[in-house]
Order: sequence, then structure tokens, then C-alpha cells
Amino acid sequence: MPIEQIHPMMVHFPIALLITSLFLDFLSIIIKKDAFEKSAFYLLILGILGAVAAIIFGLLAEDAASKRPNIADTIETHEALAFITTGIFIALLIVRYIFMKKDNFKKVKPYYLIAALIGVAFLLATAKFGGHMVYELGAAVNANILK
Ligand code: HEM
Repeated sequence: MPIEQIHPMMVHFPIALLITSLFLDFLSIIIKKDAFEKSAFYLLILGILGAVAAIIFGLLAEDAASKRPNIADTIETHEALAFITTGIFIALLIVRYIFMKKDNFKKVKPYYLIAALIGVAFLLATAKFGGHMVYELGAAVNANILK
């Protein structure tokens, strides 16, 4: 399998896992069970690992996709958004871990949730630009099948 075909498989992991992590954090406010908050924490870690994998395979797909005309700016924006998104979630993981160790994550949780919402907005913007590249600009579409 060509290496540039792995990125589209990987992108589902950060999108699904990071959004579900935030969802469980909100759910834990309504249903006060520690299990939801704990699961959100582990999904955050897995989501970040997924984002790192998506970045690695995204960078490996960049050259092939760049052969399309009019795509350079969109790739750069998509790439920058991916790095910002992943940076936000790594920072959130570090902060969350520090406060969990001190046993007072609940105190900062409202701020965490706001920052995580911003992170998800960046994640969705990353995905939006990725989809735009593939479905509107024709990145990763075999030119021969369009003839
Ligand atoms: C958090 C990290 C990332 C996420 C969530 C993400 C998400 C996406 C999504 C949803 C698509 C559309 C896939 C499809 O529908 O087929 C896409 C395409 C693409 N992304 Fe990313 N991306 C990430 C990081 C990166 C990075 C760092 C690069 C490096 C430039 C990159 C390069 C590409 C390219 C070239 C495409 C079009 C070709 C393809 O699908 O492989 N991505 N991305």
C-alpha cells in the first residue's frame, strides 16, 4: 500500500477519541461517576497518540498531494492547524496530569473544558481543510480515473 494512503486511515483516531474524551468530561458533570472522568483522561492520551500518528503520515503524504495544482496554501493551513490542535491537547494533558496528581483537577475543570472546546474547534477546522483538499481540490484522487 502506498504510504500516502495511510493518513486518511489515521485521521479518524484523533477526531473520534479527542471528541469523545471531551464528551465524557461533560457527561461526568451530569452523571457524577469518576469512571467518566478517568475514561476521558485515557481517551485524551490515545487521541494525542492518534494525532501524532496522523501528523507523521500526513507529512509523508504531503509530497504526493502537493503535485495537485492550487493546493499548496490549503496544505500549509491544514498542517499548521494540525500542529496547533495537537499542541493544545498535549498542553491540556500536561495540565490535567499535574492537577490530577495534586487531587484538585475538579477546581480547574471549567477552564479545562473551555480550552478543550477550543482544541476541538481547531481539530474540526483541521479536518475541514483536509476534507476540502480531498473532495474539492482533488488531492489524493488518481488523475487517471477523472479522465
Ligand atoms: C491532527 C492531525 C491531522 C488530522 C486530524 C488530519 C485530518 C485530515 C482529514 C480529515 C483529511 C481528509 C481525508 C479524507 O477524507 O480522505 C486529511 C487529508 C490530508 N491531510 Fe491531514 N490531518 C492531520 C495532519 C496532517 C499533517 C500534519 C499533514 C502534513 C502536511 C497532513 C496532510 C494531509 C494531506 C496531504 C491530505 C490529503 C491527502 C490525504 O488524504 O492523504 N495532515 N487530513
